[in-house]
Amino acid sequence: MMNSLPHQFNALVIGASGTIGAAFVDLLKHSPHCASVHGLHRHSTPPIDFADEHSVAEAARVLGTEARFHLIINAAGILHSEEFMPEKRLADLHNRQMQATFQANTFGPAMVMRHFVPLLASERAIMAMLSAKVGSIGDNRLGGWYSYRASKAALNMLVKTAAIEAARSQKNSVLVALHPGTVNSRLSQPFRGEVIGRPAEDAAADMLRVLDALTPADSGSFRSYSGVELPW
Ligand SMILES: NC(=O)c1ccc[n+]([C@@H]2O[C@H](COP(=O)([O-])OP(=O)(O)OC[C@H]3O[C@@H](n4cnc5c(N)ncnc54)[C@H](OP(=O)(O)O)[C@@H]3O)[C@@H](O)[C@H]2O)c1
Repeated sequence: MMNSLPHQFNALVIGASGTIGAAFVDLLKHSPHCASVHGLHRHSTPPIDFADEHSVAEAARVLGTEARFHLIINAAGILHSEEFMPEKRLADLHNRQMQATFQANTFGPAMVMRHFVPLLASERAIMAMLSAKVGSIGDNRLGGWYSYRASKAALNMLVKTAAIEAARSQKNSVLVALHPGTVNSRLSQPFRGEVIGRPAEDAAADMLRVLDALTPADSGSFRSYSGVELPW
């Protein structure tokens, strides 16, 4: 697994307390070539909480003294909370929900790119931001889910923009937005996730296979767990 990375590669998973994040950590821990896997989340040491911009900078400072990373995956994100469910119609829109959703799905991941792209290893390194196919503007057929869709579409733009910048100074880096497919998780639970979703281990294994095959020429793309490119 991840044979394209140097032997003894270092991996980092942000949102490691989540269903998909935990599955990535598990798989990487059992990967023979993986020297270390850090799993960070809101209650790890150091913690990463997207509501606290400083926590992202501080985590990067702490981890940056140890090593460079060959693989960084952000698996944090929200669709719903105790206070809100995805909007069905314009009349459901509220700043509070939009702000909370963008904080978790867009602003936090942007800060991750800001502080962790400089920690990517120079020989070969992959950074994947978990996005969602419903964030595709071109593929939006059903409407609804305003905050979530818009937050992931904006995330995709940030990934593409960061990939262009990183290609100049870190020529071997690959930055992508990655769609996990429908996965049985806390996030999909209110939407019959256990019926329509796959186990997180299967999705994470598929996504690692996709990442392994990417080259710097693929940087800045939006990929599905099957490897196909998705429309923006
Ligand atoms: N499941 C699906 O069907 C599906 C489909 C498409 C895309 N995705 C994307 O895949 C990613 C993982 O989703 P999942 O299904 O594994 O969901 P999950 O089980 O609900 O996990 C979500 C993760 O995000 C973290 N998180 C939420 N808000 C945060 C914040 N403000 N700061 C830091 N961390 C925060 C959670 O931390 P706590 O444990 O502290 O709450 C948890 O680690 C998300 O980006 C999601 O949009 C999922």
